[in-house]
Amino acid sequence: MQGSLRVPGDKSISHRYALLAALADGASRIEGYLPGEDCAATLACLEGLGVRIARQAGAHGLTLAIEGRGVRGLQASSRPLDAANSGTLMRLLAGLAAAHPFRTVIGGDESLSRRPMRRVIAPLTSMGATIDSRDGCPPLTIDGADLRAIDHAPEVPSAQVKSAVLLAGLHAAGRTTVREPAPTRDHTERALEAFGARVERDGPRVAIEGGQRLRAIDCTVPGDFSSAVFWLALAAGTPGSSLTIEGVGLNPTRTAVLDVFRRAGAAIETAPERTAGGEPVGSLHVQFGDVRPVEILPAEVPGLIDEIPALAALAAMTEGGALTVRGAGELRVKESDRITMLARGFRSMGVTVDEFADGFHIEGGPPRGGDADAAGDHRLAMAFAIAATRARSPIAITGTESAAVSYPGFFDELHRFGAR
Ligand code: S3P
Repeated sequence: MQGSLRVPGDKSISHRYALLAALADGASRIEGYLPGEDCAATLACLEGLGVRIARQAGAHGLTLAIEGRGVRGLQASSRPLDAANSGTLMRLLAGLAAAHPFRTVIGGDESLSRRPMRRVIAPLTSMGATIDSRDGCPPLTIDGADLRAIDHAPEVPSAQVKSAVLLAGLHAAGRTTVREPAPTRDHTERALEAFGARVERDGPRVAIEGGQRLRAIDCTVPGDFSSAVFWLALAAGTPGSSLTIEGVGLNPTRTAVLDVFRRAGAAIETAPERTAGGEPVGSLHVQFGDVRPVEILPAEVPGLIDEIPALAALAAMTEGGALTVRGAGELRVKESDRITMLARGFRSMGVTVDEFADGFHIEGGPPRGGDADAAGDHRLAMAFAIAATRARSPIAITGTESAAVSYPGFFDELHRFGAR
């Protein structure tokens, strides 16, 4: 495969720009907003909380005009809010709901209803909110309050937990601190600064002073690096490939997987071009190289957690490839149990996979043929499809519609690159 492409807007950044625009003073304009299902749920939730949003189809995704209601200006929703498939939305929104003096109920689909929420319930409760859940899982019933600042050290590295606490901290009396056990994506910190807030950052410590105002901005969401990675895997595993992905986010807290691709034999170059809305943006170039076995070390995991399915696809599609992952127990509480469902899916395509409590080992392919169930998980649907392009016989994948959660149009693009 040869050529260049763009990927839809970044899911993590889309959520954050919309949430902060809703809290800002004045009207923000967001271009390149991801038209996927998770981010549509964010807009619907914000509308439920009284925010006025106009949507228009733009050149690369949606263009939004969001009328901010000011910090602590959201209104009670007359109905439960639906976070659909999105853990990010539920956790970040919980941080905001905790600071508003009314009851907010947030539910989600079957997958989200199984995901652990104690990691946000505990800190938000110690800030003063009252939160009911179904045994630590959604739906969450949040009675917001006047919050007090806390100093929080989460047990698991999680940008969602950090962000929920920082967003609550923006509304709290005093300075709220989060001490991260390992660095995680810093889009919330960058977006808060882009909207005019001061955030103190000192190694693993992030702090925000409550009571700050946000100002409306015009911003553009960069292409989603995590979506681009599926094309990196396809090109890295397809002899003769040379591919450029343009306009993609290159935030260093997201790009750790590039080093793993290089260790696996791919030639990859990044060309940063500009910083927009606090985020570095540029292009990525990838060229096929002979694929080698690689191991992901536990310390690397928080920086590439969403890219593990794509790395597994690269290993599964190539004879020389293999992937060992350890220290990635968090994969079990993503949109699906990504260890079990990934192992099951690749095995039913004829690939050898060993499963561990905190990871897996996948032997080089290529897949024989057969079928695979994406288990309603967007990243598994795309990973299985990428690996299937190199299979000896056709593969039937169930649940491919879930790709629209983060990458509407993924399968059209895959056809454009010649997959049948
Ligand atoms: C995200 C953070 C990560 C990631 C998820 C998006 C975010 O989750 O897996 O897809 O936007 O903050 P955790 O922070 O829970 O690890």
